[in-house]
Amino acid sequence: MIYLNGKFMPIHEAFVPVLDRGFIFGDGVYEVIPVYSRKLFRLNEHLNRLQHSLDGIRLKNPHSSEEWQHLLEQLIDYNDSDDQYIYLHITRGVAKRDHAFPVNVAPTIFIMSNPLLPPATALLSSGVSAITAIDNRWVRCDVKAISLLPNVLLRQLAVDVHAIETILIRDGFLTEGAASNIFVVKDNTLLAPPKSNLMLPGITYDVILELAVTHHIPHEVRQISETETRNADEILLTSSTKEVLPITTLDEKPVGDGKPSIMFNRLYTLYQDFKNTRMRDSS
Ligand code: PDD
Repeated sequence: MIYLNGKFMPIHEAFVPVLDRGFIFGDGVYEVIPVYSRKLFRLNEHLNRLQHSLDGIRLKNPHSSEEWQHLLEQLIDYNDSDDQYIYLHITRGVAKRDHAFPVNVAPTIFIMSNPLLPPATALLSSGVSAITAIDNRWVRCDVKAISLLPNVLLRQLAVDVHAIETILIRDGFLTEGAASNIFVVKDNTLLAPPKSNLMLPGITYDVILELAVTHHIPHEVRQISETETRNADEILLTSSTKEVLPITTLDEKPVGDGKPSIMFNRLYTLYQDFKNTRMRDSS
């Protein structure tokens, strides 16, 4: 079941008019929220980011946090899996095609949920490959906009060479992945690019940095040059659906010794422990 504009229905019954501004202009924002054991992961943080995205496109939030929570919990109940990932999408609604904002038009609200499967163990044990590309997106990458054409094109560059992600470089510095955040490890220090308008403030990124603080893992939040990225001992990818993955090949060259290494193993274990104690503990 999915949710569309006030109703729950099977996805094959869900239709949006062709004049929806999401379809015409990509005029909308979205969120992806993991659900573990039927509980929403970091809901407040996801709703805060949704508000930031809505503010970024000057669209009023159609619901309070309590209303969102109620809607999402109903959708989780309608779906079978205990672990799911929610895709929540809001557009500026349906109106005659005109770039100017329409007046008094209701937004389109679409929410679906799919089973959330952890990354295959083979990916965790051998690591994944990535390529690099110039970050040619707009300069409001902090807004989780549904207009993802640049991300789609950049990600496809990786798919074309059987890599899993494209790591983006802007003006000589690492920003993020086409659909993920990227961390670099050098000399046992975890390096994270600072949040700015040039990257999406990842919810998983925040969890990883919190774990680094709590467990006294040396870390620095600062700009990371392309050269540092290429000479990294380890590179890690994070996202809500992939959690944390080791990138062991970059542009066909091994990262460090080409195997998942100490920092990945440590953070992966800490992330799983964090998830299991917060989300699975029924006590
Ligand atoms: N993407 N950067 C970009 C460009 C992303 O698209 C994503 C996530 C992230 C990671 O953010 P988070 O940890 O909050 O998932 C960073 C989602 C999963 C997607 O578009 O499907």
